[in-house]
Amino acid sequence: MGVSVVILAAGLGTRMKSKKAKVLHEICGKAMILHILREAFEISDDVSVVLFHQKDEIERVILAEFPQTKIIEQDHANYPGTGGALREFAPKHEKSIILCGDMPLITANSIKNLAKSRADIAVAVFESDEDAYGRVIIEDGKVLKIIENKDATPSQKLIKTRNSGVYAMKSAILSKFLPQISKQNAQNEYYLTDIIALAHENRIFAEPVFVNEVEFMGVNDKIQLEIAQNAMQDRIKNALMLKGVRFHNAKSSFISVDAVFEGECEIYENVRIEGRCLISNSIIKSGCIIENSVVESSSIGPLAHLRPKCEVKNSHIGNFVECKNAKLQGVKAGHLSYLGDCEIDEGTNIGCGTITCNYDGREKHRTQIGKNVFVGSDTQFIAPVKVADNAIIAAGSCVSVDVPSGALFINRAEKRVIKDYFYKKFGEI
Ligand code: UD1
Ligand code: MG
Repeated sequence: MGVSVVILAAGLGTRMKSKKAKVLHEICGKAMILHILREAFEISDDVSVVLFHQKDEIERVILAEFPQTKIIEQDHANYPGTGGALREFAPKHEKSIILCGDMPLITANSIKNLAKSRADIAVAVFESDEDAYGRVIIEDGKVLKIIENKDATPSQKLIKTRNSGVYAMKSAILSKFLPQISKQNAQNEYYLTDIIALAHENRIFAEPVFVNEVEFMGVNDKIQLEIAQNAMQDRIKNALMLKGVRFHNAKSSFISVDAVFEGECEIYENVRIEGRCLISNSIIKSGCIIENSVVESSSIGPLAHLRPKCEVKNSHIGNFVECKNAKLQGVKAGHLSYLGDCEIDEGTNIGCGTITCNYDGREKHRTQIGKNVFVGSDTQFIAPVKVADNAIIAAGSCVSVDVPSGALFINRAEKRVIKDYFYKKFGEI
């Protein structure tokens, strides 16, 4: 049996204290809402997202990655609140799963588990001391009522069973009871949670399904954002370690959710792997940042920076080397260089202090360096420029013309040693 999924993401997200919409805040390099959509589409062919505040921006981010998502606009002026959010939801299937857009750690497996419940309504709950959640009143294994923290009496506040905000219920229950919800409460909003008490009065029973608090945590402020990101980092790194990646002090590094590792890799302390990266059979030493790049059979760092679109294969990149849009194959660049918009081939050695001068103030230009080229230290390549195979570039050169195969390029000012210059100018001391 199929299920429909609806994700509530129309709220203002005031507690995040940010200009950015709450659900667009990133966890491990990806907007929260996209994490949830990835899991939702694993279990459903009918996924809707309810939007209102900053709708256009959120919609653009969602449709870029999941174009099959149905977008619903909440009539927020007339129907505020989680109950109001669902009024336009038109599920395709008999069963609906309701998720919140601020739950980035939820997994397809847990949602499936909740959907398995035979009850008319299944409410995902957990035991917690965290104040922000609704209190769940359970009697004889049935949920009677959910009371929001702001509406709870001091004794109700002591109830440890809290509402995760995720439900699986027959779609017909939603259409029947949503119009009956009122907004007589502390927040003057339509609470979806009130559907439980309404259903109960009509002898429709809700089952509490106990779930893992971390997985179902709601992210409302920047403290919870940090907690959720750390939890997902642990998940990502544990999975990688089981695949054979060796970490040295895993907690100190950041690995994007879109990073792919192959073979045996080793990651030292304080490394950031950002965006879509492929790291295969390589060592990344301390303090490196790698963004949207491919690294294969290479050693990088310590303290190197691969900016987007690098392809580094069978190479060694050493300390204080910055690369951008660089295709390096079998290259050694051990120290203090900037290699941007370039291709460098097999067996070439890049001396310390080499700079590809790629920008003329208006446009970017490429540097192409062939095989077995020796580039002496402190060389500048004024792009566009090509250096053919087996060329030798003398240290301290400024290369502004193409260098043919096997040639020596040298351009230094004439050497002069002017004897006794100091004494003649300033006299004997
Ligand atoms: C909600 C639940 C609470 C539960 C908690 C779990 C209600 C009334 N309360 O509280 O019982 O413990 O989630 O995290 O449901 N939203 C809309 N439209 C709105 C208001 C909110 O789409 O008008 C969306 C938000 O974008 C968010 C989700 O609904 O993704 C939950 O809203 P939020 O304000 O975070 O509710 P909580 O106070 O956390
Ligand atoms: Mg919330």
